[in-house]
Amino acid sequence: HGGALSLTVNGRRHQVTIDNRTSLLDLLRERLALPGTKKGCDQGACGACTVLVDGRRVNACLTLAVRCQDAEVTTIEGLASGDGEPHALQRTFVEQDAFQCGYCTPGQIMSGVACIREGHTGSREEIREWMSGNLCRCGCYVKIVNAIAQTAR
Ligand code: FES
Repeated sequence: HGGALSLTVNGRRHQVTIDNRTSLLDLLRERLALPGTKKGCDQGACGACTVLVDGRRVNACLTLAVRCQDAEVTTIEGLASGDGEPHALQRTFVEQDAFQCGYCTPGQIMSGVACIREGHTGSREEIREWMSGNLCRCGCYVKIVNAIAQTAR
């Protein structure tokens, strides 16, 4: 079964016809040509696919696209300002050297943006707790917390 879906991604309205089983992750990557959101485990265990839906952090691999009717989705491609200026957290990730291979980085940054916006930055432990669903196989956790803490200041 399929159906029509309309939603806004990074400020741009899209109308697509999709199979009801399509994940938001596959919609973004395969239908909307937005590959910045990564597919790690595809089962909710790694956080590589983290995006914001109506401002709230979700794992796009676990979110059915059909549940996003009229939603506002933000992906890593939509974080920079209109004139291409990177988001403050993108800048501090670079400054703090908070990645090695970079595969988990879009998800880390989207989770980190939600962490800051929702005020879970009272301590390093609080940041780590919030970020615990975003795995980094290169082990950059300390530097990721540094970047979020620095941006939140
Ligand atoms: Fe969605 Fe791993 S790809 S949590």
